[in-house]
Amino acid sequence: MIKFDYTKAFTTKELLSYQSAVTKRHQQLHEKTGLGNDYLGWLSWPADYDQSEFQRVIELAKTIREQADVLLVCGIGGSYLGSRSAIEMLNGLYGSKKPEIIFIGNTFSSTYLHQVMEHIQGKSVYLNVISKSGTTTETALAFRIFKQYLEQTYGLVECQQRIIATTDKARGTLKSLADTMGYSTFTIPDDIGGRYSVLTSVGLLPIAVAGIDVEAIMEGAAAAMHDLNDASLMTNPAYQYAVGRRILEKQGKQAEMLVTYEPQMVMLAEWWKQLFGESEGKEGKGLLPTSCCFSTDLHSMGQFIQEGTKCLFETLLLVEKPQDDQQFPLADNDLDQMNYLAGKSVDEVNKKAALGTLAAHYETGKVPNMIITIEQLTAYNYGYLVYFFFVACAMSAYLLDINPFNQPGVEVYKKNMFRLLGKN
Ligand code: PA5
Repeated sequence: MIKFDYTKAFTTKELLSYQSAVTKRHQQLHEKTGLGNDYLGWLSWPADYDQSEFQRVIELAKTIREQADVLLVCGIGGSYLGSRSAIEMLNGLYGSKKPEIIFIGNTFSSTYLHQVMEHIQGKSVYLNVISKSGTTTETALAFRIFKQYLEQTYGLVECQQRIIATTDKARGTLKSLADTMGYSTFTIPDDIGGRYSVLTSVGLLPIAVAGIDVEAIMEGAAAAMHDLNDASLMTNPAYQYAVGRRILEKQGKQAEMLVTYEPQMVMLAEWWKQLFGESEGKEGKGLLPTSCCFSTDLHSMGQFIQEGTKCLFETLLLVEKPQDDQQFPLADNDLDQMNYLAGKSVDEVNKKAALGTLAAHYETGKVPNMIITIEQLTAYNYGYLVYFFFVACAMSAYLLDINPFNQPGVEVYKKNMFRLLGKN
């Protein structure tokens, strides 16, 4: 399902020099003896996920699709990036499918909250609040504001249908609030951390409400689980990618730029940044994950990549077949001098831009490139791709002897903020 090409980044000999290190980490991962082994629920999740909760997700999504104009998804980090990345990647940026999905709870911006509040006036609104800990302040602040709006608009009883909480199965402020108020709840498993949770109800409920085939997503993830349970660096592309990151880091690279050529994959890159950034950036180690969408960013970051500091490598995420294509038209007078493209498909132009850019960056600019190719933007491929990145990220961090599943550094800003806000 995924083609991985490392020939413009490192040699097979360099790759295979990591085989014994990878075999050791592969065993640690699968025998659950490595760092953070309490958080490996995602590894077998495509095979052992809770089927009855999954059916509840599908049924509730159907009801919301029938009754809502807007679904507000209230969460931050791993509690929203996955669903948003899937919805944009698969439905596009101007998808006409109802209901509209709006993400809140990921910012303290009063202006943003006000804009959303204005936008939903007079519309039928459902609210899915998502927080594993149940105490995240950005999420809790937005939730209180919109919960009060829903209560004033629909009354407490109807809110029991309209507000859904996805949180820990037994603990936390959000769980007790939801139980007290009588909301439906969905569970975030104890052994799956936020940024590994898109294939649980955290991601699947909003994704299903967006009309996306969540069964196909789980099938894709299950296929990846089967294909990538393989310690061999000759055959496992996720481990090739993980090792590639370490090889390039050893060559002095400090940043990895994930490059897409589809604007609807920008949020997938945001999800990827969180996955790798929070998993690996610890103990003074880790590559800085950054991203660009070309051609757009060729006219902003392109100059730096081509001729600036040689601190980064690129990982190209290519899609073979576009969701839609069109033929570039002929113009009789050719005033814009674009007739040399007439009759070509626009996607062909996009593909040639990618090839030309690859040559410019790799051959002329000496920027190494790894290339990940998927065939099409489908739900199945989305499931496959996220599982591919889960495995690659875990291996990548294990090769640095880092626990990929905690995020101790995130607490520092919270402590300061709470002190400044006078929280006890
Ligand atoms: O990956 C993670 O664990 C984090 O990014 C969390 O998803 C994020 O901090 C939100 O946490 P919570 O779901 O507890 O509100």
